[in-house]
Amino acid sequence: MEERRLGPVVGLGTWNTFGGDDELAADVVGTALASGARLFDSSPMYGRAERSLGSALDGRREEAIVASKIWAPTVEQGRAQFRDQLKWYERVEIEQIHNLVSWRNHADWLEGERADGRIDRLGVTHYAPSAFGELATAMRTGRFESVQLPYNPLERECERELLALAAELGIAVIVMRPLGEGELLLRSPSDRELEPLREFGVETWAQALLKWALSDERIDVVIPATRNPLHASENALAGEAPWLGEDERRLVERLARAERR
Ligand SMILES: NC(=O)c1ccc[n+]([C@@H]2O[C@H](COP(=O)([O-])OP(=O)(O)OC[C@H]3O[C@@H](n4cnc5c(N)ncnc54)[C@H](OP(=O)(O)O)[C@@H]3O)[C@@H](O)[C@H]2O)c1
Repeated sequence: MEERRLGPVVGLGTWNTFGGDDELAADVVGTALASGARLFDSSPMYGRAERSLGSALDGRREEAIVASKIWAPTVEQGRAQFRDQLKWYERVEIEQIHNLVSWRNHADWLEGERADGRIDRLGVTHYAPSAFGELATAMRTGRFESVQLPYNPLERECERELLALAAELGIAVIVMRPLGEGELLLRSPSDRELEPLREFGVETWAQALLKWALSDERIDVVIPATRNPLHASENALAGEAPWLGEDERRLVERLARAERR
């Protein structure tokens, strides 16, 4: 799989999929790793997902890049979340401040953890375009090395400012919701409609959507979530060149709009 600044370009999300079923999590994580994925995104907001991810990585921790989050109104609660993460993962490669909650307060103590080597990179995330102004403010402080935001053919607000800003500041970009929380897959274009994408290694509609995002080279990694191991390996196959050109990206955008109607 192609690698960019955060490693292989297709990772795995865990929201709504790893709800405490350790066996299923182990199955999906095992397939994702075997398919070349390395980055696993989680959060204290996702129920038992962090814990399930920790158990799924048992014995394979060194193969993974853990991207988790602090989601807490107070520093005390944030530190307690980090203590749990150290129990499950020993260290956290990418620690993100979830939805910018108390981000200035958390950045202070997280920088200390990074200096002590328990964290490699700090990041910020938000899912809502109404918060993108504050996301930009956080990015401009120079305190963060990654940003996580939604990006798919029907959610393109990050193109207005954030992608250019991330590129200018050298901040790595993690894409949440690359499949629109699965809504973009409720109906699929026909084989005939996908035909022009075959020479780009696209076999399925999910791969077309993941390649659409990754074909913008300002994107470092997409993190589709799945509870289906077959989907995990299918998604990983989208992480290889050749990337889509302007015409093919426009085709995917047209198909996404048509499927939505
Ligand atoms: N949504 C948010 O607001 C948000 C916020 C912050 C962070 N994140 C992070 O970003 C990750 C990804 O976003 P997301 O989980 O919201 O949505 P997503 O990855 O865009 O979509 C996930 C859905 O797509 C389906 N899917 C995945 N691969 C498929 C395939 N090859 N074929 C058919 N269906 C497929 C999954 O169902 P199956 O289980 O059936 O495969 C699942 O329902 C999250 O898990 C989380 O780590 C999300």
